[in-house]
Amino acid sequence: MKDFKKEIASIISNVIGINDEELVTYIEVPKDVNMGDYAFPCFRLAKELKKAPNIIAEEIKEKLDITGTDIEKVEIAGGYLNFTISKLELAKVTLEEIDNKKEEYGKSNLGNGKKIVIDYSAPNIAKPFHIGHLRSTVIGGALYNIYKYLGYEVTGINHLGDYGTQFGKLIEGYKLWGEEYDIEKAPIEELTKIYIRINEACKEDEQILENCRNNFKKLEDGDKYCTEIWEKFRSLSLKEFKKVYDLLESKFDSWNGEAFYSDKMPEVIDILYKTGKLIESQGAKIIDLEEKGINTPCIIEKSNGSTTYATRDLAAILYRARTYDFDKALYVTSYEQVLHFKQVFEVAKLLGLEEKYTKGLEHVAFGMVLLPTGKMSTREGNVIRLEELLNEAISKVKEIIEEKNPDFAEEEKQDIAKKVGIGAVIFNDLSGARIKDEIFDWDTMLNFNGETGPYIQYTYVRTNSVLKKVQEIPSIEKVDFNKLLGKEEQNVLKLIYSFTNIIEQSTVKNEPSILARYLIDLSKAFSSFYNENKIIVEDKVTKDARIYLTYATNMVLKNGARLLGINMPEKM
Ligand code: ARG
Repeated sequence: MKDFKKEIASIISNVIGINDEELVTYIEVPKDVNMGDYAFPCFRLAKELKKAPNIIAEEIKEKLDITGTDIEKVEIAGGYLNFTISKLELAKVTLEEIDNKKEEYGKSNLGNGKKIVIDYSAPNIAKPFHIGHLRSTVIGGALYNIYKYLGYEVTGINHLGDYGTQFGKLIEGYKLWGEEYDIEKAPIEELTKIYIRINEACKEDEQILENCRNNFKKLEDGDKYCTEIWEKFRSLSLKEFKKVYDLLESKFDSWNGEAFYSDKMPEVIDILYKTGKLIESQGAKIIDLEEKGINTPCIIEKSNGSTTYATRDLAAILYRARTYDFDKALYVTSYEQVLHFKQVFEVAKLLGLEEKYTKGLEHVAFGMVLLPTGKMSTREGNVIRLEELLNEAISKVKEIIEEKNPDFAEEEKQDIAKKVGIGAVIFNDLSGARIKDEIFDWDTMLNFNGETGPYIQYTYVRTNSVLKKVQEIPSIEKVDFNKLLGKEEQNVLKLIYSFTNIIEQSTVKNEPSILARYLIDLSKAFSSFYNENKIIVEDKVTKDARIYLTYATNMVLKNGARLLGINMPEKM
């Protein structure tokens, strides 16, 4: 598709002789529509040219030749040159591209040849799959889809927390009281009870604590009994987690959790040892990171010889670099792990990997999920079972549908409730900048008129019913772009035009919220168009043009939502 930004950069380049590839990075999209479609700020040039920005703007404008281009108007505002694109051209370029690409609209090959590993979800075996893991699952899943859409080769990894000293405790608890608990029936709940009980017992009895530590050591050494129980815990927990993944339709290419690295850690320790940086401290082996501005050392081996979460992450980096040859490796977790990843990424530089790999490591941190009443936490006991929560979303929507559309078939109601309920939760997780804490409030996220998933779905359904009424989408040759020059039509077109760019920006910042916000903007723009204009009018030329715009909106909403992991109901 024709790139208006590039066109602008190229004519400016003709005037000032800086190459257009650099200039294109200067160009912005002004927030205020009265400032034109694109703005070229002259501030950066001011230093170089030793002139005031507004003088530069004027000088450029004077020499600028826009004849034969898609630019209709150039104006100066402060140190900016503001460009307005021909409305007709915008409509033509955008809708012809829709015709060309159809379902593939917005796809690109920007990422061809590049490999990305995304580490997300990663709940802990025998512990509840909590709302923070949900957020990781949703953000990671969206990034996964988005990178793929841009042509990257993506590997999604569920780095399960299936290892660590807590398993020594769980094994001990199970040994002592296993018979009392029905862990087949409700694995996570029952194992959590065992875990709490064994922790209490450890406090009372030093010997029990010692046994727990030994169990983990035994597990690391491949002891048969310990391994068998551990496997049982793992598979039962996974069965539970999969209920959530099924509801969210989450997919992973690899389920290699922490335990997978158990035999890969000696190499890490060996490499670190040889650097001379691995030092003893209070019986433990650590890497001091003071010099690197990190005050807490990275513990590689505990005093009892067992390994740590960090060591496993280091082994994983080594393995992933070798196996996937990644250009980027993203870790999607809450910001509570900022220090952990700072340490791990710093120590990774000692592993002797090519710089390309250590430079590609990135922590994609996100904020807490808060209940309107405060933080959700396992310790305080107000855990929310995720499967229950998602089902609650579904049943809440079901109630609304029963009320609004009592005569829909039961199956249909159920299908809509699922798509809208799950969509609402996903959208709520994605709509704010990821680093911000998120409030989990049913009324807000299920509001069909708010900035929510259901609002986007509702807009989509509106476009659908228009398209259903007319039955046939006119062919692009029949569309008279002159009928799409009004303010509402143009706002919709501008947004549709920028879809690919929005997707790209979402990856630059690893911020699916950019796409989520965009879908709200597009829904709002379409709603204004829809409210101001009748679509199915007498005049066939006007009607066809409006239908085509509706069709384009329909496709972008659907594709965009799918990238976020949200399915569209066909009616609601
Ligand atoms: N299991 C961890 C947790 O629940 C998250 C793991 C994230 N991934 C990683 N490679 N450390 O906090």
